[in-house]
Amino acid sequence: MSKVFAHRGSSIKYPENTMLAFKKAEKTGCYGIELDLHMSRDGYQIVIHDETVNRTTNGRGYIKDLTLRELKKFSIKRKWYRNEKIPTLDDVLEWAMTTNLIINIELKNDKIYYEGQEEAVVQKVAEYGLGDRVIYSTFNHKSVKKLKQLTDSEVAALYSKKGTNPLLLVKSTGADAIHANHRVMTESLMKDCQQHGIPVRLYTLNKPPLIKKWIDAGLAGVITDDPELAENILKEK
Ligand code: G3P
Ligand code: CA
Repeated sequence: MSKVFAHRGSSIKYPENTMLAFKKAEKTGCYGIELDLHMSRDGYQIVIHDETVNRTTNGRGYIKDLTLRELKKFSIKRKWYRNEKIPTLDDVLEWAMTTNLIINIELKNDKIYYEGQEEAVVQKVAEYGLGDRVIYSTFNHKSVKKLKQLTDSEVAALYSKKGTNPLLLVKSTGADAIHANHRVMTESLMKDCQQHGIPVRLYTLNKPPLIKKWIDAGLAGVITDDPELAENILKEK
């Protein structure tokens, strides 16, 4: 049975990677949420998609150059939701403890590598006792290997490059699962993964025909901006 993961929270309606979007996602009954993680100048784990705050907040600059205090002063740049702030991983995990959600933590360490981030995140998750409810993922395949050495939690290798062979990727990284852009997945590759017992989750599935097609193909996880829609499709099955 496919499981629904809310991509950046319920980001179709609410500002991505905010506590509001995560809380609204939980209300849809989805299985999990997906979030993106960077690291601030003073070593805090910051939940935001881009390397900079420019697109999603009223601030400017790279996360790596800003302190948590500076980051917390910025507001989310979206009409109706200007009271929302950039969350930290602590904000999310503290709330997640009150839910049954699975948390897919994507380390955004492929463009900028944050030294010591893997260790810090694994330790943080352990502090909250959430190791068995976390799936790590990253496009940085060296980091996948490193995470596999640091934790018993599930670790997924992310990719979006056409021609990537998921079986070889799992072999070279030790990943437990594959998270791939749906545009580069084929039904044949999907079958190969299934035969080898490798869970495949695809992003970003927002349209009913796509969601239906991949659920029918036995997809493990639907990573979607619209968890309500995906849950409704699953219920009809
Ligand atoms: O984790 C799947 C997906 O979130 C990866 O792409 O750019 O939305 O973080 P992106
Ligand atoms: Ca992501």
